[in-house]
Amino acid sequence: VALIGIVGCGKVGVSTAIQVAMKGLGDLVLIDIIQGLPQGEALDLSHMASILGIDVEITGSNDYRDLSGADLVIVTAGVVRRADMTRMDLLTKNASIVSDVSDKIREYASRSRVIMVTNPLDVMTYVALRRTGFERERVMGFSGLLDFGRFRYLVARELGVSRSSIIGPIIGEHGDSMVLLPRLTTVLGEPLTSLLPSERIMELVERTRRAGAEVISLKGWSASHAPGAGAALMAEAIIRDTNAVVPVSLYLKGEYGVEGVCVVVPAVLGWSGVKRVIELSLTESERSEFLRSVEVVRQAQQAVDQLIH
Ligand code: APR
Repeated sequence: VALIGIVGCGKVGVSTAIQVAMKGLGDLVLIDIIQGLPQGEALDLSHMASILGIDVEITGSNDYRDLSGADLVIVTAGVVRRADMTRMDLLTKNASIVSDVSDKIREYASRSRVIMVTNPLDVMTYVALRRTGFERERVMGFSGLLDFGRFRYLVARELGVSRSSIIGPIIGEHGDSMVLLPRLTTVLGEPLTSLLPSERIMELVERTRRAGAEVISLKGWSASHAPGAGAALMAEAIIRDTNAVVPVSLYLKGEYGVEGVCVVVPAVLGWSGVKRVIELSLTESERSEFLRSVEVVRQAQQAVDQLIH
């Protein structure tokens, strides 16, 4: 039986735990610094699994030693940006938390794969890569399924087709400069660019970029169910070794002409982690949009570089 650790037992961590447990992917250990919280959530989730007849062990702990032997660790620990915080405040605070968590993963779960969920996502993936010292194939960031899922939600409504019939890639930063690729997004092979006018596509892309903020402004705190669903899908691809092609934030080593930055690209996921990067054939304008997005992340990455060594 696989052992999956979830670090950070807040809204995103718990939603991820629910959806991983429902898939029956393996035993779960929840870790948080708040006394009682991971233990209480684990007990509640164990009761949930019992009602559903799912036989996975779910435990909670404040001790990172309980990550020992984990095959996969999903990191959702961090603070959520408050109105009075700048992006830089968030970056600094979460870089310190993720550094600390990464040290513990290296110490107690040195053979595991890591899925980073904490924001700002791409830079936190970089921090985890540096601080665990793991090879890049075992450290990946979750966000692409979330952003594409939000786009797909809008496109499916617009076209009146099933969400599952819409397939497409997303690349670049998990943030305002994310790159959706309407030319390569298709309904069973027919590109979006021939199904909708370009102005309408741009509106849907813009709405997708703002979707996270839209959720916050309505419910008062940030999304958790959609991130949980996406993180659980990535966990499934790894634990069941499915070779699913998933957009993940990954440290690039020359792919797409980019060196030394963590950004979202499509990758084949399986038991070993990232098995292969898929290099899409981009047009000049798609490529330059991607490279602009890479530069946004590169700058933020440089800003944390001195903090994490
Ligand atoms: N180790 C373990 N847990 C920690 C640590 C740490 N060093 N530091 C903070 N935590 C825990 C907090 O105690 C809290 O329970 O992380 C949890 C964060 O939960 P929430 O505040 O509910 O935040 P959430 O909405 O879950 O978002 C977490 O995921 O999607 C991203 O942008 C989001 O970066 C944010 C992260």
